[in-house]
Amino acid sequence: MANAVIDWNKVWKKECAKRSVKKRDVSFWNEKARNFSRKPWESNYAEDFLKIMEPRRCWTVLDMACGTGALTIPLSPYVRRITAVDFSPRMLEGLDEQCRAQGIENVRTINASWEDDWNSRGIGEYDVVIASRCLVVDDLRKAVVKLNGAARERVYISTIVGDGPHDRMIYEAVGRRLTPGPDYIYTYNLLHQLGIYANLFIIKDMRTESFHGGDEALAYYEHFLGDLTRDEKQRLGDYLQKHLVPKNGKWVLDYKRMTRWAVMWWEKE
Ligand SMILES: C[S@@+](CC[C@H](N)C(=O)[O-])C[C@H]1O[C@@H](n2cnc3c(N)ncnc32)[C@H](O)[C@@H]1O
Repeated sequence: MANAVIDWNKVWKKECAKRSVKKRDVSFWNEKARNFSRKPWESNYAEDFLKIMEPRRCWTVLDMACGTGALTIPLSPYVRRITAVDFSPRMLEGLDEQCRAQGIENVRTINASWEDDWNSRGIGEYDVVIASRCLVVDDLRKAVVKLNGAARERVYISTIVGDGPHDRMIYEAVGRRLTPGPDYIYTYNLLHQLGIYANLFIIKDMRTESFHGGDEALAYYEHFLGDLTRDEKQRLGDYLQKHLVPKNGKWVLDYKRMTRWAVMWWEKE
């Protein structure tokens, strides 16, 4: 059999097209920023990511698609300076607010997207570049090349393993099929094809969501799932009514779910 060379970027794109969770626009992420700031979940992700990173005081860091700063904030005391970039103004407002509240002075934000010309947006070069849980792009190869180009020493990226943060039981309860899209193994193969032999770590995130009431839970999952029909919303409501139980004055689902994240990092040669 001929030794066919697989184009991993093409395979990745093909798998993305099958995703039940489609690429979202800026208005979705602006809306999501409210959840990010309120954080109706607890997670060990940032702590574990920082352990893998072993940050150095002398580093300048680019945190691409930073959100409200799940990594920027905890990383800021351990490095020299962070430039945090996101295309959602609401996400950046959330991050700026937290920096002000916590007296963090080594973080600056830039409103820009993956697709922009990073030079003309003043993004520049950094010792270390991070792209955490945000490889929501049309062309993965282009995104990796861009990240690599902005880094002098190291690049850290992370992405989903299997279903990622999506709760399959909830999808099934509303009558939808979950196709989460290509997970880290596609990304890892693409890196290999680019001659990047990345270190790989899997973070086990015991993330638990908790809500002040059923309405908050409904709005949270509704936003996660995208637009719901009236029937789907009814089924989601029934499911939550059956599975939400009180805990420490709030409401949580009555089962545990593990989210795994793959962190891949490499040194520039
Ligand atoms: C799941 S959040 C991840 C945030 C953060 N990096 C973390 O690990 O928690 C994805 C982020 O990517 C941003 N994003 C999505 N598409 C983008 C694009 N085309 N350009 C820049 N940022 C984008 C969203 O606004 C959101 O803040």
